[in-house]
Amino acid sequence: MKQTLRVNLGSRSYDIIIAPELLQNSKPFLDPIIAGRRVAVISDKIVSNKYLNLLSPTLDSITDSWDLFRIEGGEDAKSFGSLEKLLDSMLAHGIDRQCVVIAFGGGVVGDVAGFAAGLIMRGIDLVQIPTTLMSQVDSSVGGKNGINTRQGKNLVGSFLQPRIVLNDVSLLSSLPSDELKSGYGEIVKYGLLRGEDEFTWLEKNFSTIMSCNNSALVEVIRMGCETKAGIVSEDELDRGKRALVNLGHTFAHAFEAHAGFGKFQHGLSVELGLIAACDLSERIGLCEKGISLRVRDHANDVEMPVKLSDLSNETHWKKDALYKRMLHDKKTINGKINFVLLREIGNPCVCNEVTQQAVYETLIQLGAV
Ligand SMILES: NC(=O)c1ccc[n+]([C@@H]2O[C@H](COP(=O)([O-])OP(=O)(O)OC[C@H]3O[C@@H](n4cnc5c(N)ncnc54)[C@H](O)[C@@H]3O)[C@@H](O)[C@H]2O)c1
Ligand SMILES: [Zn+2]
Repeated sequence: MKQTLRVNLGSRSYDIIIAPELLQNSKPFLDPIIAGRRVAVISDKIVSNKYLNLLSPTLDSITDSWDLFRIEGGEDAKSFGSLEKLLDSMLAHGIDRQCVVIAFGGGVVGDVAGFAAGLIMRGIDLVQIPTTLMSQVDSSVGGKNGINTRQGKNLVGSFLQPRIVLNDVSLLSSLPSDELKSGYGEIVKYGLLRGEDEFTWLEKNFSTIMSCNNSALVEVIRMGCETKAGIVSEDELDRGKRALVNLGHTFAHAFEAHAGFGKFQHGLSVELGLIAACDLSERIGLCEKGISLRVRDHANDVEMPVKLSDLSNETHWKKDALYKRMLHDKKTINGKINFVLLREIGNPCVCNEVTQQAVYETLIQLGAV
């Protein structure tokens, strides 16, 4: 059932391994990178309490020295304060340029640990062991890391490609339902980016993924990682084509920023953002009618948000406020919002010629006033 994918980035190329029970069998993958070196495992309380016992025998067998550094769970950990505390603690423990950082947790741990690894001694080796569906299918691939500032999400960060990504799908069965759905939001994105066959497969097989069937998880994580790896290989530093992995995200980020980051899971917002992106694509005549209905029906089947009040019913969803958020998006250039839209399933494009009126109509369709 094991799958291996190569991310081709010249001297920074690396493998992504996807399999059940990978932690217990990680020695052949970790040994060539870690043997004899000091290791800093960065994790949070939930993940280290649940799963460190599966990783520690391997670490014990390949290095004399490894330490656990725990950060807080949740979006608040992506702050200057918690990064400073982490760096301080790592330096106090004598972490030097020969050490290897293992990011062991969800996307939050991956982003903070990746940033810390890139900053300590101007960059030390990083291994990603993601433990959420979101991080296995998306955030651990591509080398982006970072923290939030009071001005917005992920505004400070860097690129540091990992030496390897180990995706153990067995870990996903303990995820709370909304965390699983959040990762699924990104999977729907990859289905829409890939093509009709992949999206139809999801429409038929989503229940096997949501019930954490190992072979379905391996298959779908491979599909997501392969899509992202292909795009990242062509545009590592996000100067052009990498924008396509932001399908649905211009809307999603506006929903999250407007409601307050952390109010609901990122991937739930992405799912609604995908419905919005498809609706907008139809509205401006870029694609035939019907795709947004299909994506909405699918979200309904998976019991994911189909309107703004499903994300949060205590937020006042005002279209002009949401539009303003989009104007302040990282990807907006010279006042022109860059939307990733679809010509058809599997055929995305970046479009910055959308009228405010069309965006308003899409937002109203989702329940904004
Ligand atoms: N760098 C990138 O390219 C990129 C891409 C997408 C998202 N992200 C970032 O990822 C973050 C979201 O990551 P996330 O969705 O993984 O959330 P998360 O890291 O906050 O994890 C969600 C919760 O699940 C818990 N958890 C983790 N693994 C578990 C397991 N196996 N069983 C039970 N509980 C577990 C965590 O402790 C946490 O409480 C956001 O900050 C987002 O900005 C980064
Ligand atoms: Zn995302």
